[in-house]
Amino acid sequence: MPFTFPPERTLAGVRTKLLNWFDKYQRDLPWRRNAAGELAGTRDAYRVWVSEVMLQQTTVAAVVPYFARFLAALPDVQTLAAADEQQVLKLWEGLGYYRRARHLHAAAKVLVANHGGELPDGPEVWAELPGVGRYILGAVLSQAFDRPLPIVEANSLRVLARLFGYRGDPREGEGKAWVWSAAEAVLPQNRAGDFNQSLMELGALVCTPAAPACDKCPLSANCIANRDSLQDKIPPKKKPVAITEVAEVGVVIRNGGKVLLCQRPASAGRWQNMWEVPHSPRAPGEDIGAATARVAKELTGFEIEPGAEMMVIKHGVTRYAITLVCVEATLVGGAFAPGAYATAKWVTLVELAAYPVSAPQRKLMTALADPNRQPRLF
Ligand code: ADE
Repeated sequence: MPFTFPPERTLAGVRTKLLNWFDKYQRDLPWRRNAAGELAGTRDAYRVWVSEVMLQQTTVAAVVPYFARFLAALPDVQTLAAADEQQVLKLWEGLGYYRRARHLHAAAKVLVANHGGELPDGPEVWAELPGVGRYILGAVLSQAFDRPLPIVEANSLRVLARLFGYRGDPREGEGKAWVWSAAEAVLPQNRAGDFNQSLMELGALVCTPAAPACDKCPLSANCIANRDSLQDKIPPKKKPVAITEVAEVGVVIRNGGKVLLCQRPASAGRWQNMWEVPHSPRAPGEDIGAATARVAKELTGFEIEPGAEMMVIKHGVTRYAITLVCVEATLVGGAFAPGAYATAKWVTLVELAAYPVSAPQRKLMTALADPNRQPRLF
């Protein structure tokens, strides 16, 4: 049965109430200001684009410092297009989902090479760019150019499902189509960018997943979930993903004052072109020292003498809970054999800071470079 949205006059009321609430309560976030730091004035499409790519899958609090650093280093599409990928990855280090950064970089190159470095105000060019799906398209065009295009992300999805009382799962199948149609139905023709942001802002500040503050909500009188006390049921909780435990060993191969840093190949499943000390799963029951020597040999071609266990790093990647035991080792012989890694370099502990690495590897490298670290084997 097709879902019936409220009549146009109700929707018009919802728009007005939500925009008025947004004008009063929106957070002062850096991408809501232009490059001169002013709140009013034209929206800078590049700033909107970078912020929305960062905000996809990452919280506002985590994004704020990254956004400032990124914009300071690469203030416009020209500088981004001309940047080295290693610099872009370094600026993204710690944000995760590095494919976003590579896509952003590739898209900037396309815009400079084929579109005169202009950020277009219509959907045709955007839709063809790497990393631009329906969310980014709607977010950038509505905020930067006031195009009435909808957005759906985790916060607005919750607001829309509760407001209209949608009982299915808006993250899946026909629920997904429903939530986009809801975002479209409620969207005003004017101030579409502010309205899209107001949905996300309401979800972040008031219509929170647990214990929403319905007494502070401008839409409480219109909200079906509030009327029927279904806030806990709408939207339905995400199905928990089964987590797989993985035991890994990482090897810090030392040669004099330097350590071996390896670059992941472009074909890697994640962390492409980023750097790390070699690491790999340990076989059940495999001795740590034996695993260290095996991993070094298999991944790099070098023979090593395992030394002390340095630290244990626990981290999660998608559906894996990884326990990485980091072991120091001394180079004995052999030659670097590319394959698992594209290339490798001997670098000083000070130089480690300059390379883009994953979050768990940064933990390891920060510890390695700490001059107060005990014990020091070398
Ligand atoms: N999440 C994604 N985009 C956002 C925005 N523009 N403001 C607040 N939260 C967001």
